[in-house]
Amino acid sequence: MAYIITGPTSGFGYPTALELAKHGTVVLVGRDQGRLDKVRKAIERAGQHAVPVVCDLSDLASVRRAATEIIALQLPLAGLVNNAGIMALRATKSAQGWDMAFATNHLGPFALTEALMPHLPDGANVVFVCSGVEDPERRPAVIAGFRGGRYISAEASARGEWKPGGSTHPGLDAYATSKQCNLATVLAFARETPRLRFNAVEPGFSPGTGLSRDANAFLRFLGKYVLSPLALYIRYWSTPARTAKVITNVLLNEPGGTGVYYDERGKPMLGSTLVSDPEFQDRVVAETRALLSTVSA
Ligand SMILES: NC(=O)c1ccc[n+]([C@@H]2O[C@H](COP(=O)([O-])OP(=O)(O)OC[C@H]3O[C@@H](n4cnc5c(N)ncnc54)[C@H](OP(=O)(O)O)[C@@H]3O)[C@@H](O)[C@H]2O)c1
Repeated sequence: MAYIITGPTSGFGYPTALELAKHGTVVLVGRDQGRLDKVRKAIERAGQHAVPVVCDLSDLASVRRAATEIIALQLPLAGLVNNAGIMALRATKSAQGWDMAFATNHLGPFALTEALMPHLPDGANVVFVCSGVEDPERRPAVIAGFRGGRYISAEASARGEWKPGGSTHPGLDAYATSKQCNLATVLAFARETPRLRFNAVEPGFSPGTGLSRDANAFLRFLGKYVLSPLALYIRYWSTPARTAKVITNVLLNEPGGTGVYYDERGKPMLGSTLVSDPEFQDRVVAETRALLSTVSA
C-alpha cells in the first residue's frame, strides 16, 4: 500500500508521515527537496519506505507535474492526505497571479486530488485537513479574530476579495475562506464520487506548528514553549502527535464512511451552516473547476 501526504516537512504533517510509514510506502509531497529528504531519511532510519515528490501547491504547473510524477511511480495508491497549508499575514500572489493562501490551501490541493482520483482504487480515502475557523459561529475562532469563510466566488477569492464584514486582521479571511472551500470540496466530492471516500479533519489548534511562522518572534516563542505544552488539556486544542494519530485513523479506517468531518479527537462534527449546504458545496466545486480550466496544461 502507498499513501500520499502533502506538507510532511513540518507541524502536523511530519508525525503523520511517520505514522503512515508504519502502514506502507509514503509519498512525501513538498516544495523543498532538502526538507523532503530529511523526512525520507527519518522514515528510512525506522526501516520504512518513502518517496519524495517536489511540488509547490501554490503553482498549478508544479501540481500537475507532481501528479504525473506520482502516477508514474506506479505504486499501489490507497489514500491521500491533503495537509499542507499556509496562513499568510501578508497577501501575495501565486505563479498564476492568484491569492497565495487561496492557491496553496484550496486550488492546489483541489487540482492534485482531481488529477490523482482516476488512479485511486475503489474505497481509497482522501482526507483534507480543514479548520473550524471557516465557521463564523465557532467561538474560539471568533475570539481569535476570524469571521468565518468569506466566499464570494472562486474567481473573487483568487483575486483576494472576500465577502464584506470580515476580519480586521490581515490574512484571516483568506485563510478561513480557503478552509471553507476545503470542507465544501470534501462534502461535494463525497456525494459526486461514491466509489472513493472523502473525509475532513479539524486538527485542533496547535500553537507550536509552523502555521504561525509569519507572527512576530515573541508570539512564536509563546506558542511553541508556553502554550503548546497545555494543548492537550484545552478544548479545541491539540498537539501534532495526537493529530497525527487522528488523521491516520481517519485515513486507514477500513469500513469507514465518506463525507464525514472529524474533530481534533476523531469524533464527527458539523461545519458551518453555509458549508453544510449542498448547493454551496457544488458551487464551490463548479467554480473551482472553471477557474482551473482557464490555465492550459
Ligand atoms: N496549527 C493549527 O493550529 C491548525 C489549526 C487548524 C488547521 N490547521 C491546518 O493544518 C494543516 C497543517 O498546518 P500546520 O499547522 O502543520 O502548519 P506548518 O507547520 O506550517 O506545516 C505546513 C506544511 O505545508 C507545507 N507547505 C506550505 N506551503 C506549501 C506549498 N506552496 N507547497 C507545498 N507545501 C507547502 C509546508 O512546507 P515547508 O516545510 O516547505 O514550509 C509544511 O510542510 C494546514 O492545512 C492548516 O491549515 C492548522
